[in-house]
Amino acid sequence: MLIVITGKGGVGKTMVSALLVKAITKLKENKDIEGEILAVDADPASNFASALGIKAMGSVGDIREDMRKKMDNGTFPQMDKEMYFDGKVFEITAECCIRNINFEFIEMGRPEGYECYCALNDMLKKILKKMENAYKFIVVDCEAGLEHISRRTTTKADIMFIVTDTSNAGFRTVGKIRDMAERFGVKKEGIFLVLNKFNENLDNENLKEKIKISKIPEICRIPYEEEIAEFNLTGKPLTEISEDSKAYIAILEITRKIGHL
Ligand SMILES: Nc1ncnc2c1ncn2[C@@H]1O[C@H](COP(=O)(O)OP(=O)(O)O)[C@@H](O)[C@H]1O
Ligand SMILES: [Mg+2]
Repeated sequence: MLIVITGKGGVGKTMVSALLVKAITKLKENKDIEGEILAVDADPASNFASALGIKAMGSVGDIREDMRKKMDNGTFPQMDKEMYFDGKVFEITAECCIRNINFEFIEMGRPEGYECYCALNDMLKKILKKMENAYKFIVVDCEAGLEHISRRTTTKADIMFIVTDTSNAGFRTVGKIRDMAERFGVKKEGIFLVLNKFNENLDNENLKEKIKISKIPEICRIPYEEEIAEFNLTGKPLTEISEDSKAYIAILEITRKIGHL
């Protein structure tokens, strides 16, 4: 199952992605379900690893850069480029076990210098295609905005969460992502709205209207939580969040729904 997490910058995509990895592990273990989880950081800002409490072993962007240099200076080995690339991706895929949360992790990173980001997005598409049968769950923390959908890297998603806070700009991005996702063939029934940093005082007609206009079913509401803000301040990984965190409980709930766990 390919789960992608999209939305405007700063709305909580990485937070949702990290807690999803934790929730899937927990529910999977409770039910004794086999199969691995792959967490993919597809945001060039690369902060999924620290939210999970791990260190990336390199990035796909680095591999690409290294291959390019080798080809330029004639030191690239006599072998098929794709095989070489696949081997290197395998090498940087980290097997992680943190606080009994088991998953594997890949960081896309970003292209060097002024190089176009398209090539890296093509690689992400290929990687996701290759990995889809090897993992039971793939969780992709996306770059903010529309890049991944416009490049069709994530249009094969089984589940697409569009995360927003209660801001106008957040909802505007939701609308743009939904339009493009539908145009590019993301399964409509797999698209859900996640309302994050929710403040009960804002539970008013205006917000209801915004949710209605978004035309996406709201799957959950995650409150603004001091514990998350505190983790952000101290740099503590979100995988260490307490079991009674309302945000974590909300994510457990959606994981049960979407993963049939
Ligand atoms: N429910 C929440 N309660 C409090 N702070 C939150 C919550 N969700 C996210 N944050 C904080 O908001 C900021 C942006 O979250 P992040 O997950 O990095 O967003 P994105 O990945 O969409 O850019 C971070 O500082 C994070 O700690
Ligand atoms: Mg992020």
